[in-house]
Amino acid sequence: MAASLPSAAVLGARAFAALEGLARFSDEPGKLTRLYLSPAHRQAAEWTKGAMEVAGLTAFIDAAGAGRREGPVPGGPSVMIGSHIDTVKDGGRFDGNLGVVAGILAAQALRDAGIVLPFALEVVAFGDEENVRFPTHLSTSGALAGDYDPAWLEARDADGVRLADALVAFGGDPGGIAGLARKPGSVKAYLEVHIEQGPVLEVENEAVGIVTAINAQRRARVRVTGEAGHAGTVPMALRKDALTAGAEMALALEGIAAGHEQAVGTVGVFQVEPGATNVVPGAVSFTVDIRSPRDETVAAMEAIVRERFAAIAARRGVGLDITTYAKASAVPMDPTLQEALSAGIARMGVNPTPRRLPSGAGHDAMAMAALCPAAMLFVRNEHGSHNPLEAMAIDDFMAAATVLAQWVADNAG
Ligand code: HGY
Ligand code: MN
Ligand code: MN
Repeated sequence: MAASLPSAAVLGARAFAALEGLARFSDEPGKLTRLYLSPAHRQAAEWTKGAMEVAGLTAFIDAAGAGRREGPVPGGPSVMIGSHIDTVKDGGRFDGNLGVVAGILAAQALRDAGIVLPFALEVVAFGDEENVRFPTHLSTSGALAGDYDPAWLEARDADGVRLADALVAFGGDPGGIAGLARKPGSVKAYLEVHIEQGPVLEVENEAVGIVTAINAQRRARVRVTGEAGHAGTVPMALRKDALTAGAEMALALEGIAAGHEQAVGTVGVFQVEPGATNVVPGAVSFTVDIRSPRDETVAAMEAIVRERFAAIAARRGVGLDITTYAKASAVPMDPTLQEALSAGIARMGVNPTPRRLPSGAGHDAMAMAALCPAAMLFVRNEHGSHNPLEAMAIDDFMAAATVLAQWVADNAG
């Protein structure tokens, strides 16, 4: 008879120690910034590989870090648990990393309990979920799902480094990416544990929740070109100030998003050229991120943004270029997996009717849903996310990790 899974307290303590360990790997001292293919990403991938091996997985690093416990049929279908180890700039230690640690601990707990699985168990640490360094979109989970855009290899970061060159420097093989695509049927299910990154579970005092769908999103790069000039001599009426034109566009985006139900619109990056106190800005480059639970709303918003930005540019006599580089449709999570996770939460006594909610944030599960049934378990967290104050209670993690390990054990047949 298989022994029982370790106590939630043991899982929780191990998790927080692991997250503490991972948080050390950053490209910026004193902050957690771990961008795709950076030195800190490599260190974190090595650490994750080691932790996977301790948990009994055969681990390796390719476009993503991954570990696998073979099932009865070598190379047979697997259940995959994953999330990402890249972060935003000055981010929190739980976004992404939590799901990878939860997968490793679940694998370790199932092994230690001597639970035999009729399928392989894989844990994956994706590396390009935030898409902060390169204009890509979920490229490493897309590689596994067979949805990799070869144009991404030519993408360049802010320093002009090609993604393909950064991948070679990281120890990866651009020519091998296509071969990473998993065959349909080779992965039975993809499960991801992730902090909610929003206020719902906290406000409703729920430790965990089940994701129903992941919102649609579009991202674009905008460049406005005016005329640089002397701040002291060019009369206001004669200026072609790129910054004030861009600022009016950013405010227009805010109004467009506010005017669409459950939609959001954000300008996260805004670069000014030449960026001198006494020079009227000649050009600005900024990013647009729009999201909504419905595809048609995001499409409508993009059309309005283009129309309004063009009108602002024409009135101000400045040039405008808008390049949309990422389009993701809303992705529903698998209903059967949602039911199984819901039953697991209810059986744990956490809540007889677990909260279900959409995800405003994007996740690797969006890409993996193209390959196999995918589901996400949200964990309550404080202070939101994409900021260093991001926090989570160990008890809430324990609830989620126990549901995850129990789901795998229950599906062990
Ligand atoms: O931006 C997002 O939604 C995710 O955190 N990458
Ligand atoms: Mn994330
Ligand atoms: Mn994130």
